[in-house]
Amino acid sequence: MSNFSNNLVNNFPEYLFNKINTQKLEARKDGRDVIDLGYGNPDIPTNPLVVDKLIESARNKKNHKYSVSKGIVGLRSAMKERYKRIYDIDLDEDKNIVNTIGSKEGLTHLLMSVLDSGDKIVVPDPSYPIHHFAPLIAGGIPIKIKCLDTNQFLDDLIEILKTTKIKVVLISFPHNPTTLTVTQDFYDRLVLLAKAHNFLIINDFAYSDVFFKDQRPPSLLYSDRELTHSVELYSLTKGYSMAGWRVGFALGNKEAIQALTKLKSYIDYGTFQPIQIASTVAINDLDSYPQEVSEIYKERRLLVVENLKNFGFNIFDSDATMFVWAKIPEFYKKKSMDFSLEILKNSNVAISPGVGFGNHGEGFIRIALVENKQRIRQAMKNMQSYFDDSM
Ligand SMILES: Cc1ncc(COP(=O)(O)O)c(C=O)c1O
Repeated sequence: MSNFSNNLVNNFPEYLFNKINTQKLEARKDGRDVIDLGYGNPDIPTNPLVVDKLIESARNKKNHKYSVSKGIVGLRSAMKERYKRIYDIDLDEDKNIVNTIGSKEGLTHLLMSVLDSGDKIVVPDPSYPIHHFAPLIAGGIPIKIKCLDTNQFLDDLIEILKTTKIKVVLISFPHNPTTLTVTQDFYDRLVLLAKAHNFLIINDFAYSDVFFKDQRPPSLLYSDRELTHSVELYSLTKGYSMAGWRVGFALGNKEAIQALTKLKSYIDYGTFQPIQIASTVAINDLDSYPQEVSEIYKERRLLVVENLKNFGFNIFDSDATMFVWAKIPEFYKKKSMDFSLEILKNSNVAISPGVGFGNHGEGFIRIALVENKQRIRQAMKNMQSYFDDSM
């Protein structure tokens, strides 16, 4: 028998969320109504103006041809203006911005564009799974740093830099899964380190628009306005609730952006042009939509936090993201995977075990706020009944 898969892919560790997913699908096959707070797949619809623009543009046969892999100029200019309007950062739409197929694809191809085989890259642990895998796909060596406290993260990075040559430091704030946020001062300190040790910082900024107080999460690029050591990945997925549209951007350092643009020009012909045109409308005309979306997540968050506190969980406080990150109380005496499987089995609620995001996520669970308030209330009731019965 031939083996048509290579070692790289074969050696990927098991995707830990598969266990939960398999059980969730089995439960649904048995007719059980599983409330899915596991998978971070936004349930809020895309703004109707964007959908209308997509339909209108799709009717125009000129838009049926191949588009451009780096993104149409109108789309890149819309991002340039957005960064100026919101963060007061100057970008050149040709040199510093490239359209990506969401930030996930953007990150993977960016790392393939900037890492040589064997280059070392710092990755936070816990983190969104592609942060662990993209470095491997790109041939890099991930150096994982515990990320449950942002100051500690910087201190640990400083220690590593004393002995190890690092090519890239990957970060992502506001952070999935821990919901940690940072201030501009964090980026100022990181950029100083990047200049001293000559590494590229990549900030996966997928949650830039999901925040609950007046304080908008800062951009890394503001701390590196000459764009010598920084790239940010921006996405319409969360803030504009456009997950399935697959629209993101890489922005910043021109050598890194040009390398990614070049690689992408070999690989793809760009996102379907009507999607790019409709996304341009979202970026130019709908600054207030992410605030409406955030308001919905904020209310859901309050509901979950209140209940989990009653169940004895310690919650990471946060004013951003669409998640709740909570420490499993000692008295449950369970590791995060067993705990999550038990909740699924006994309460029909799917949640994510912290260990799925990395070893330092052990002992925690992540709840994604992707069902409406009524369903979340039901989920909390189901969990309450199970805890009452089992204690
Ligand atoms: C940190 C982080 N980055 C990227 C993504 C995926 O974003 P996109 O849809 O833009 O690929 C997610 C989705 O959950 C995420 O949590």
